[in-house]
Amino acid sequence: MPLGGIVTMMIQNLRRLGGLALLAVPICWGANAGRDCCEQSDVNYDESRVPSYTLPDPLVCEDGTPVSDAGTWIKKRRPELLALFAQEMYGKSPGRPPEMSFHLRSSDDEALGGKAVRKEVVVYFSAAKEPGPKMDLLIYLPKQARRPVPVFLGLNFNGNHSIHSDPGITLSQSWMRDSPGKGIVNHRATEASRGTSASRWPVEMIIERGYGLATIYYGDVDPDFDDGFQNGVHPLFYHQGQTQPAPDEWGAIGAWAWGLSRAVDYFETDPDIDARKVAVLGHSRLGKTALWAGAQDERFAIVISNDSGCGGAALSRRRFGETVARINATFPHWFCENFKKFSNREDSLPFDQHELIALMAPRPVYVASATEDLWADPKGEFLAAKAASPVYRLFGEEGLPAEDMPPPDHPVQGTIGYHVRTGEHDLTAFDWQCYLDFADKHFGRAEK
Ligand code: GCU
Repeated sequence: MPLGGIVTMMIQNLRRLGGLALLAVPICWGANAGRDCCEQSDVNYDESRVPSYTLPDPLVCEDGTPVSDAGTWIKKRRPELLALFAQEMYGKSPGRPPEMSFHLRSSDDEALGGKAVRKEVVVYFSAAKEPGPKMDLLIYLPKQARRPVPVFLGLNFNGNHSIHSDPGITLSQSWMRDSPGKGIVNHRATEASRGTSASRWPVEMIIERGYGLATIYYGDVDPDFDDGFQNGVHPLFYHQGQTQPAPDEWGAIGAWAWGLSRAVDYFETDPDIDARKVAVLGHSRLGKTALWAGAQDERFAIVISNDSGCGGAALSRRRFGETVARINATFPHWFCENFKKFSNREDSLPFDQHELIALMAPRPVYVASATEDLWADPKGEFLAAKAASPVYRLFGEEGLPAEDMPPPDHPVQGTIGYHVRTGEHDLTAFDWQCYLDFADKHFGRAEK
């Protein structure tokens, strides 16, 4: 790879390594770039260096029983795989807290110049209510559409107020990673942070297509740093004397996914929302989260992973871009403690990520990559989506209708969808157009 390419990729990847991790990665310039002087150099971006590997067969049970019909998948293989992912990777999560309650914080029938209804709902996870744990759900619904409306649901990185400049959105009070450029100072959002993530949330476009959008700041559920799980929702579920999750209990991704399910609990109580038509979507670490949420909670009718990469849609065994060892070292709080056993031991994983995607079957699932996002291994994401197809065929569904990776910006949409967008690691209007088309197709809203 030419020097310029290496430097660009390093800068992109450095940008993506949040928090403390950034400090730990030295930058190599000039003649040293791409040589073995820096931690980035052990990252493989060379297809010819992908080791040979054998993917576990989703259609063979642990006891060797072949799965040749949907019934065996549903009764035996699916629960077994789901339990393995919980046990060894994301950790086991609790259910709905019995004392959870919903409080309508605000509502406006004339939002976005009269095009939308905006609601804000506080979800309290315990009877104590304040100061929490709790999460703020921001909901936009198209004003004209027939009720109940289908919705997209996704966690956001910088607070609900960052998704749109709408001054009616409550400014988040939660802890955030400092980002003065985005108006986050002393770990708190300021007025300057309104709308700073708007390019990732084309609210008007979603509304115009007849969908609602609901979003939650992921840090409401669990702040994204390694504090030994003392904040966020984890302590609410500790048994007496417990101070951190057991090795097979949920990490941060498990908690964020759990928060998404609690949003569906709310939707089930709101007559304006069609809780049977919820598409869960997430970008990057929140794409990993969307997949895990969709695997566990079959109320999610469509599941969308945008650039989720390692620990999401990308095959771990390819060891291309980010690896299991790397993600466990940089983000030790994302997965359960058991997952650390597999750092540099990908071949001993009892599953690979194609089987996570297969857990959505027969529900529609979409995997998207970006051409410059090599850290997330676009090809590994495509191959995982494709390798989930045999499970869809058990249900008479086609899975992913593509033999080879499609060219950039050419979405392929079967019951499994895939595209690789031109450009970098991001969630763009193009990605959203593809997801809206996919939802139209599967929710029976496509033009005849
Ligand atoms: C880092 C991390 C990825 C993650 C991404 C993000 O780049 O290594 O695994 O997907 O952050 O969430 O932005």
